[in-house]
Amino acid sequence: MAISYDELNRIFTIQTKDSTYQMMADRHDRLLHLYYGRKSAGRMDYLLTYADRGFSGNPYDVGDDRAYSLDTLPQEYPSQGTGDYRSPALVVETESGKAGCDLRFDSYKIRDGKYSLPKLPAVYADADADRAQTLVVTLRDPEAKLRVELLYGVLPELNIITRAVVIYNDSDEKIYLNRALSANLDFVGGDYDLMTFYGRHAMERTPQRVPVSHGEQVVISRRGTSSHQYNPLLILADREAAETAGSCYAMELVYSGGFMGMAGLDQFGQTRMQIGLSDHMFHYPVESGASFTTPETILSFSGGGLSGLSRQLHDCIRSHVVRGYWRDRVRPVLLNSWEGCYLTFDAEKILNLAREAKGLNLDLFVLDDGWFGKRDSDNSGLGDWFVNEKKIGDLHRLVEQIHGMGLLFGIWFEPEMVNEDSNLFRAHPDWALAIPGRKPVRARNQLVLDFSRREVVDAIYDQVCRIIDMGPVDYVKWDYNRSIAEVYSQAGREAGAVLYDYILGLYDFLERLCTRYPKLLIEGCSGGGGRFDAGMLYYTPQIWCSDNTDPIDRLRIQYGTSFGYPVSSMGAHVSVSPNEQDGRVTPLYTRTVIAMSGTFGYELDPAKMSEAEKAEVRRDVARQKRYASLISGGDYYRLTDPLKGGPAAWEIVSKDGTEILVSIVTQNNHGNMTQDYVRLQGLDKEALYLLDDNGEDAAKASDQPGGSAPGGQNSSMGLNTAGKRGIVYGGGALMEAGLPVPLRFGEYLAYQWHFTRQ
Ligand code: GLA
Repeated sequence: MAISYDELNRIFTIQTKDSTYQMMADRHDRLLHLYYGRKSAGRMDYLLTYADRGFSGNPYDVGDDRAYSLDTLPQEYPSQGTGDYRSPALVVETESGKAGCDLRFDSYKIRDGKYSLPKLPAVYADADADRAQTLVVTLRDPEAKLRVELLYGVLPELNIITRAVVIYNDSDEKIYLNRALSANLDFVGGDYDLMTFYGRHAMERTPQRVPVSHGEQVVISRRGTSSHQYNPLLILADREAAETAGSCYAMELVYSGGFMGMAGLDQFGQTRMQIGLSDHMFHYPVESGASFTTPETILSFSGGGLSGLSRQLHDCIRSHVVRGYWRDRVRPVLLNSWEGCYLTFDAEKILNLAREAKGLNLDLFVLDDGWFGKRDSDNSGLGDWFVNEKKIGDLHRLVEQIHGMGLLFGIWFEPEMVNEDSNLFRAHPDWALAIPGRKPVRARNQLVLDFSRREVVDAIYDQVCRIIDMGPVDYVKWDYNRSIAEVYSQAGREAGAVLYDYILGLYDFLERLCTRYPKLLIEGCSGGGGRFDAGMLYYTPQIWCSDNTDPIDRLRIQYGTSFGYPVSSMGAHVSVSPNEQDGRVTPLYTRTVIAMSGTFGYELDPAKMSEAEKAEVRRDVARQKRYASLISGGDYYRLTDPLKGGPAAWEIVSKDGTEILVSIVTQNNHGNMTQDYVRLQGLDKEALYLLDDNGEDAAKASDQPGGSAPGGQNSSMGLNTAGKRGIVYGGGALMEAGLPVPLRFGEYLAYQWHFTRQ
């Protein structure tokens, strides 16, 4: 059993395969956090210390015990107004202005299976197959008549614990939530680093690692969306923790709206870490008798470094967040029209692109922005999801022709947006988030539709379904290209509820779409990776990772993304060189190797490629298909940090350990180069590994197949000791000494080597 309760000492213990989580209802009925970390037996209440501390107040009910203060004790779910002056997880106020609450342990329930959350995405798991369990701890403030349920979901084999909170207003008065976080973690010590993932449009999820220091280090999105700027993923790591060693903790929020995450040291050097809804413009009314559910957060602990922590998150997202038909299926290799022709096309152009896609053995053609309403520029048309027949003729006919070529058909939508120059806006100007009488903030010349209103969601849903049915459409790219500025619903909803209700509207739309079209593949997108989060992945199994398709920038973006998200969730495409975002020149094979570590596709006009390049693409596509299930289902290892500028390297090992795919991209070239070695991970040190596929050689003309082998008989496939074609390497040496990166002439060269365990 993953969850146990020691009645006598009122201690709850959660055991996963390699971690233990413990909390206790103390003698004053407060729920104190005792421990989270490396697996342990026994009680951890010995960690609590009590001392009389100046200016740390004592709750009334502890009498003259001046050593008991909630300002110093580690708490499970701290609320404002209890004399804990650190960052609270819950801030409540009644309509008549009484602030604060004091939560006491009331009761608990343990049951098999994992809870789900109404209207919100959440990790799912099975009672039998996953041995998942749920713990519900109920806290109560009898004065305020508030009931709080702390939910814990446990997936023991995956080392995953999830948390969410439900707040019930049992009073006769309306209350407001000014903050309601999903999780709080207090540690009695503090020698940690905090990793966050910052960025900007076209340069998302750069890791930042800094020591947790006195004060509060906060990341927050006030944009109504999880954002390009910060990702809702926080990692707390032992100062000494590295990729392959040391203790580290992740908090990954399953939510797509504004969020906040915090880590800091208190006055006594104790660490607090939190994640949940952003409290920016959050003042959520809960009527008497009603309740509020926070989004869920995923917690994970690894005692074996960051790499192990990421793999736990990957497994959780891959098999317990992503759902439906496409979850375990190899995703179709696509050609997206955006960088190939942007908004300028007609039916002929589209059919030509599709024919080219077929000629390259791709599976799916995606018609991006520009096919609807009056959309000849990005200043108009959003909101009018009807076919621009002047441009592409009859959509059904077009799709029939594309299906007739043996391709799937996909199409782009940006359902949450409206241009002022659209029929929709002219008919319903109040459907936009805007303040009447004030000029709105425009971004990309568009406004955000008020998805907190059911009639708005319904109207767009009908339009989108009509197009999907007309196609029929096999794939949808769901885009979202600005941040919310005016937090104001013209339907009269209180401003403090709008941002959260907006996200519920979005989830409602997506849930209905997933139910109505169970085989539809949806790719999330928000100007690339502006809404790359576990909430979206519950509906959209893959997300366009970034609008930046420069492969060298992509090395960094995909590296940062890999800390919390699996390769199978990252949309990655081969585009032209020089790159359209930054002009960098890179070999086709390099672009391919990098895009292959994602949901693979092309985003260019193949008609502009030479025959030699097309021949290489056909070989690349065949290789990608050969390794697609290894890539999407295997264990991912970061071998180097590409931000350091040396060779970028990563490795995927099949779950049964028999297959290994190593990818390396050189970033720095010098005369008279020193030799770089890349050390592999996750192999059997006793085993031998046969190099059986060298891939292409990016340094050679692209019509000559066959790449360099690492070391020894470079460029040639000799006979190994077993008499098979290929070179055999020892697992121990591959991990200890590594593979030499070929010394070749040329910039940004890529190598991709496939090994089979002997
Ligand atoms: C966003 C997306 C792009 C493309 C354009 C179309 O920027 O991220 O991939 O779809 O919109 O306008």
